Amino acid sequence: MPKALAAEQQEKMLVAARVAFKNAHAPYSNFRVGSAILTERGVLYSGCNVENASYGLTCCAERNAIFAAVAAEGSAMRILAVAVATERDGPCAPCGACRQVIYEFGPDALILFRGQSGTEQMAITELLPEGFRL
Ligand code: THU
Repeated sequence: MPKALAAEQQEKMLVAARVAFKNAHAPYSNFRVGSAILTERGVLYSGCNVENASYGLTCCAERNAIFAAVAAEGSAMRILAVAVATERDGPCAPCGACRQVIYEFGPDALILFRGQSGTEQMAITELLPEGFRL
């Protein structure tokens, strides 16, 4: 079970994710995404999606935020929670690739994202049952 987050902390994460999507490089999809990661150290890192003319090289906001956290804290970095925000209204849960990357660093992480009816909170293990581990 992930640790519950205080309402104030949740709002802080969602605001950071909203700020982050403003820097997205999304000229192909026009779908700007921002993400914020809260680590066990209590630090927030953010990321946005970065697309490429060679579409497959695109990297999602969530993974860019996680990679920034690893660059700052090292391989022992652990994720407590992930928030996702988009410029457009409508649902946006993390993609399958990002779920696996979240699981690597936060097997107990809490994910805040927009579902069909507003902000939802789910454990990464609900979004990704039987995540891969070596
Ligand atoms: N995208 C994200 O950044 N995060 C998600 O959770 C879903 C999709 C990006 C990838 C691409 O730049 C754009 O959204 C459209 O797929």
